[in-house]
Amino acid sequence: MRAYTRTGIDGIDAMLEGQGIPKGYMVLVLGSPGCGKTTLGVQFLYNGAVKFGENGVLVLLEEDPEMIKSNMLRFGWDLDKLEREGKIAIIDASPVRFISKSIKMGEVPIGSKEFQLISLIEKIKKECRRVNAKRLVIDSLSTFILQYPDEVERRESILNLIQGIAPLECTTLVISELAQSSIERKYQIEEYVAHGVILLQRFIRVGGVIYVLMIEKMRGVNHDIQPRPFKITQNGITVFPSEVVF
Ligand SMILES: Nc1ncnc2c1ncn2[C@@H]1O[C@H](COP(=O)(O)OP(=O)(O)O)[C@@H](O)[C@H]1O
Ligand SMILES: [Mg+2]
Repeated sequence: MRAYTRTGIDGIDAMLEGQGIPKGYMVLVLGSPGCGKTTLGVQFLYNGAVKFGENGVLVLLEEDPEMIKSNMLRFGWDLDKLEREGKIAIIDASPVRFISKSIKMGEVPIGSKEFQLISLIEKIKKECRRVNAKRLVIDSLSTFILQYPDEVERRESILNLIQGIAPLECTTLVISELAQSSIERKYQIEEYVAHGVILLQRFIRVGGVIYVLMIEKMRGVNHDIQPRPFKITQNGITVFPSEVVF
């Protein structure tokens, strides 16, 4: 029988045959800024560590860990505490900070992107082993991609990153920023190689703003294909799997 990783996020597991994400899958979480991607990722890790006894690693390429920690505390998620308990690990991998800190060979700084990618993968592996991680969140791939203006190089690096973390067998959420609306979106390599794609969107309606979550793809799962409304409250994200979006 297949094993699943429960997100523990209200409504999402219900949309996934009541089970969750198949274990070891790499799922892309797409959405424009402010749609709740980081919240969803951290909630996934928090639930794993606190409710399901599954530790996790959070890779931050974009935002400062201290900023994320204080924002997430507003939902009651104490990441500092989980870090101290060895239930989660947070990797500060912002390209700017990461380069200046780790890319050194002796006293000589090495600027090469290849070396940077290898050391990022090594760092992820090390932290996953240290906390015995079953869950991994990368926030965000877009920041990672910014370093590779050349298309061929970009595809190669994305594939290298994905292949590098695959042996960890963690259920992984890879967050990616979406600039355009989903209809005119250009499909990227990561969308083809991902086992699943979850799309977060925000629409302005007469009554105000509504958030919408859609599971675009989840291989081998008879998932809900309809867009469903969700809310961000003081408890984090809640999806309403039996409500219809008009
Ligand atoms: N305590 C809170 N209660 C309700 N909504 C919140 C709270 N904190 C943040 N938000 C909402 O969540 C959004 C940010 O979500 P975030 O996960 O950072 O989005 P993304 O990572 O997609 O940019 C904010 O734009 C805000 O509207
Ligand atoms: Mg974010």
